[in-house]
Amino acid sequence: MKIYSPYSKKEEILTIKKAGEIIAYISFKQIGKPKHELYEITRIEVDKKYRHKGLASRLFSEMITEIKFRKLFVTTHISNTSARKFYESVGMDFEARLSNHYYQGEDEVVYSLYR
Ligand SMILES: CC(C)(COP(=O)(O)OP(=O)(O)OC[C@H]1O[C@@H](n2cnc3c(N)ncnc32)[C@H](O)[C@@H]1OP(=O)(O)O)[C@@H](O)C(=O)NCCC(=O)NCCS
Repeated sequence: MKIYSPYSKKEEILTIKKAGEIIAYISFKQIGKPKHELYEITRIEVDKKYRHKGLASRLFSEMITEIKFRKLFVTTHISNTSARKFYESVGMDFEARLSNHYYQGEDEVVYSLYR
């Protein structure tokens, strides 16, 4: 599995491997200064063969114990039902719908978690 990481230099990545191959990862980055305690999840992905086994949840738990945040957010495509259900399952709340974001006629949604 190849990690899609457009912000590679600034991102942190946690992975789960099987037989030396990455089968799941979460990437995230801090926004602004450390004192802002603001993080964005830039990508989470589990190899198709290993979905619905709790791997994404495991990565998410690991990430939130590792980072110190007041606000954590993620943006995903409105039609990405599995991602939206996943974010809800780990306690993130729907925050906003961004019309025509990135592409005309395609909306994005923002989920967030505060602590
Ligand atoms: C979203 C994704 C990361 C979830 O990974 P996963 O390891 O299968 O998720 P988990 O097994 O930890 O699921 C935890 C919970 O999320 C929800 N969930 C996950 N996938 C779901 C689906 N396809 N439909 C409905 N609910 C889903 C469920 O509530 C699930 O709990 P349950 O198994 O007790 O029902 C995975 O589907 C994926 O890689 N998708 C493609 C990449 C992507 O779209 N990433 C997000 C955008 S950046």
